[in-house]
Parts: sequence; structure tokens; C-alpha cells
Amino acid sequence: PVSEHAALYDLYTEAAKLYHHMLMNTSAGQEALDYLHQRGLSDETLDLFHLGYAPKESLLLPFFQERGIDYQLLRQSELFVENEDGSLRDRFVNRVLFTIRNSNGQVIAFSGRSLAHDEQAKYINSPESVLFNKSQELFNFDLAKNPVKRSKDIILFEGFMDVIAAFSAGVQNGVASMGTSLTVEQVQKISRIANQVLIAYDGDHAGQAATKRAIDLITQVAPALKIQIINLPDGLDPDEYLRKFGETEFTNALTHGLETPVTFAMRYLKQGRNLANEAEKLAYLDEVLKILATVDNPLERDLQVNQLATEFNVGAASLNEQLSYLIKQTP
Ligand code: UTP
Ligand code: MN
Ligand code: MN
Ligand code: MN
Ligand code: MN
Repeated sequence: PVSEHAALYDLYTEAAKLYHHMLMNTSAGQEALDYLHQRGLSDETLDLFHLGYAPKESLLLPFFQERGIDYQLLRQSELFVENEDGSLRDRFVNRVLFTIRNSNGQVIAFSGRSLAHDEQAKYINSPESVLFNKSQELFNFDLAKNPVKRSKDIILFEGFMDVIAAFSAGVQNGVASMGTSLTVEQVQKISRIANQVLIAYDGDHAGQAATKRAIDLITQVAPALKIQIINLPDGLDPDEYLRKFGETEFTNALTHGLETPVTFAMRYLKQGRNLANEAEKLAYLDEVLKILATVDNPLERDLQVNQLATEFNVGAASLNEQLSYLIKQTP
């Protein structure tokens, strides 16, 4: 019911304010604040993105209980975990908090980053709730949507820090899939406002593998959406790249040296393959041709076919024959 949702939205708003206050104005939050400053975030950015700190001691529970907030509402919020005896305790403890907002800018969830480098999970997310379905949300979609509607370009990152770092470098059309598993719903959300998606996943192996999966998914779900890939060196993620090379280099990387799905695949699919081996070479060519079959522009197809023919010393005619066959198979 709508009124129940309104109460939940209010609760998250209050929680976000309190967490933000802990970060900005208390000695308990000083270590977290130093950490975020060290990562290059200004107070202005911390305000804009409602970053927060969940202290070591219970914070939200006493705050909301003093205000007589209903136990069922507290349970439903997923801001707490239940003890054996049914009592509640704060879910987020001693973590930097990223605030997750819906498309309208309302707070619907949190993600807590560990400050320690120990074995516990780096990020802990709010579980699904009546307001939060992770597979349907893109981090920062609310702030990015107007810049995206203007330029028709959207940048897809993995993480919170990538989006926030890009934003503070003036790149405002970035969203994050909050991990490497892009969903159908997220692609649909993107395709409703953008003509082109620039995939800027991490330069490490997981990020590259996820880029390949994202290309395949986008091609299936939103074939009209143009895709380009931002290729970052040395296994860096966008935030690390920005810290290491600076804003100018960063924005350069976002606009120059982009790869198409085909050039990305030609490079990526070579990894771990022994192309001197005939069978592996054929398997490679087949995979690349499958991607080429999804390319509408005949000139681009022709260029790549010629490049493959030269590189692998095979006839362009037979590559084209296989390509025509694959195009007929493509729905
Ligand atoms: P990464 O592991 O690349 O983290 O995960 P990151 O964004 O670079 O984080 P920093 O820079 O170390 O702080 C990418 C994204 O995947 C989600 C988060 O949204 C994260 O930003 N993730 C990652 C989780 O939800 N849980 C995890 O344990 C790890
Ligand atoms: Mn503030
Ligand atoms: Mn990553
Ligand atoms: Mn990363
Ligand atoms: Mn990172």
C-alpha cells in the first residue's frame, strides 16, 4: 500500500541523513571521512551522493525506537537484522555507506563498504525489500538521466566509486550495474533514454569477461542500442585510472580509443587461445563472425572480414560465405 511505502521512504531518508551526519560531523566518523577524502572525494561530493558512516555501536535502532517507529516497519526496512530472540540490531556496522536511490531520487537502499582489509565482504548491500529490487536499479540513474537524455550517451560502470569519481571529474552520464552481472531490466532502463552505451567495466579479468556478457545481453535485449567499449589498461578500474592518470587522461579514455563490440571481441576472444592450433583458430573465427553477423553496417563488416582474412591467411570469400549463413540465422 502507498501509505506504507511513504513511511518506508521517510525512514530511509532519515537513516541517510543520520548516517551522513555521522560521517561529516562526528569523531566516530572521522576515520571514514579521512578514508573518503584520501580517495579523492570532496565534501561537496559526499553531500551530493549522501555518503554516510555506520558507526561501531548501534545507531538507527535507538534513534527510531525513541521516536516510537513501529516494529513491523523497522523489520520491513531491512535496515536491521533480527537477533535470536526477535529483537533487532543495526545491519550496517563500522562501514562507509553508499546511498542507493531510485529513478526519482528517493533513497531505497544502502551499500556498506568495509574500512578494514580483512576477510569480510568488501560491500554489504541492503537485501531486497518492497522498495528495492537490485536487478531493476542502476546506481545514479536519477542524476544521470537528464544528461543522458541530452547527449543520448550513457556510461555503464561496475561500481559506486567509478560513478562518483567520474561525476566529480565532470562526467555526469554514468551509472553502475553494482557488480558485473548486468540484468535484462537494467538494459531496458538504459535503452529507454539512451542511443548509445559505453561500457566501462573494470580492466581486470572479471570486468573483461563481464563486458563480453554485457555486449551479448545488450545485443539481445536492445539491438538498436549502439555499444562501444572503454578499454582500460593494466587491470585498472575507472576510479583507479582517474586517480593514477588524472582528469584529462580519464576523459580522453572515455572519448578516444573506444572499441566496437567486434574489435573488443577480436581482442578478448584471443586470450587463452592457441591460435596456431587449427581447431582453436576455427573456433575463434566462428565466434568473431557470430558477432560480425550482428553488425548492420556492411562497410564495417567488410573491413573486419578483410582484416581477419589477412591476419589468419584465409580467403575473404569463405569468411563472407560463413558470415552470410550466420546473418540468415540471426533473428
Ligand atoms: P569491485 O570489486 O570492482 O569494487 O565491485 P569497487 O567498486 O572497485 O570498490 P572499491 O573501489 O574497492 O571501493 C564493483 C561493484 O560491485 C558491487 C559494488 O556495487 C561495487 O561497487 N559489489 C562488489 C558488491 O555488491 N559486493 C561486493 O562484495 C563487491
Ligand atoms: Mn552535509
Ligand atoms: Mn570489479
Ligand atoms: Mn572496481
Ligand atoms: Mn575501485
